[in-house]
Amino acid sequence: MTTRISPPDKKALAFAKEEIARGGVVAFHTETVYGLGANAFDDRAVAKIFALKGRPADNPLIVHVHKNYDFSALVDFIPPYAKALARAYLPGPLTMVYPSAGKVSPSVSCGLNTLAVRVPSSPTAQAFLRAVGLPIAAPSANKSKHVSPVTAGHVYDDFQGEIPLILDGGACSGGIESTVLDCTGEVPQILRAGLVTREMIAAVAGDCTVYRMQAGEQPKSPGMAHKHYAPKCRAVCFTAEEAQAARVCYAEELHAGGTPYYVCERALLPEFEGNALDLGGDPAEMAARLYALLREGEQKATLLIAIEPKERGGVMDGVLNRFCRAFGRDHET
Ligand code: TXA
Ligand code: MG
Repeated sequence: MTTRISPPDKKALAFAKEEIARGGVVAFHTETVYGLGANAFDDRAVAKIFALKGRPADNPLIVHVHKNYDFSALVDFIPPYAKALARAYLPGPLTMVYPSAGKVSPSVSCGLNTLAVRVPSSPTAQAFLRAVGLPIAAPSANKSKHVSPVTAGHVYDDFQGEIPLILDGGACSGGIESTVLDCTGEVPQILRAGLVTREMIAAVAGDCTVYRMQAGEQPKSPGMAHKHYAPKCRAVCFTAEEAQAARVCYAEELHAGGTPYYVCERALLPEFEGNALDLGGDPAEMAARLYALLREGEQKATLLIAIEPKERGGVMDGVLNRFCRAFGRDHET
């Protein structure tokens, strides 16, 4: 199969519609990361996504709809705070989890009685979703455990020859996956931090908690228990206070004949001599750059030496969550 990369012009959208209707899989741009989409009503199409990604069968998918799609039949109940959040932040990088009405394929939610729904703001995603007119189940368009894709080229690198079409909307401006928010309780609860922050949600909903998995517990958002976002080269992580240890690590890798690269925020770059990848100057820029930089780093480096950014709160919760998991460090958000 040849994999075509195309902007969402008439011809590409007509092809995407046909492909989805016959149970195929199409990749598409969103404002967060690229998605790998299939008809959420079609068991076999949804199964293809899991097979293509090598995704564990216990990690549920988000259903994507266009902004005028009435998804109320897909869910059992939409609490008033979720309606207020939708008015404030949708379309946008916020996924809301509702009690499911059991209408889509059961494999979308991996047997859970909830359904995650997202209305992306990307014009490419909107055009695709409008053209197909169906709820589209879509995880990030990367092989399971690999870094999420933020360009059409990244999707191509992972799925070349395996999918027929990538709808190209350019580089993703958001850069980290949507905030996943559990809306089944009295108070909304963040299951995965993202660009719609706890502070933004609390400002509209009055309150917002953050889910923390207890030891031995079944995770509420199964994806968060899996290894994720890992670059293909070796990677280590230090805090800014451990700068000297990071320098020693760099020197050792050089000495062993390897090609080390530091990964750090812009303000810290002058402290490290040698190869370095600039993570960015502020939280939004770090979010937008992180995955592209991990993909660039795994091509160039034998060892990535990450220095944890110092800032906390807001968008940094989401950035640090991905950063620490990519570099194999435990992180509490
Ligand atoms: O920004 C995004 O959300 C991107 C783009 C493509 O929309 N999608 C994405 O999908 O990141 P994925 O499959 O890589 O991550 C989905 C996350 C996982 O952590 C999964 O466990 C969680 O959402 N999730 C999905 N359905 C859920 C449900 N019913 N209850 C709890 N968590 C759910
Ligand atoms: Mg993913």
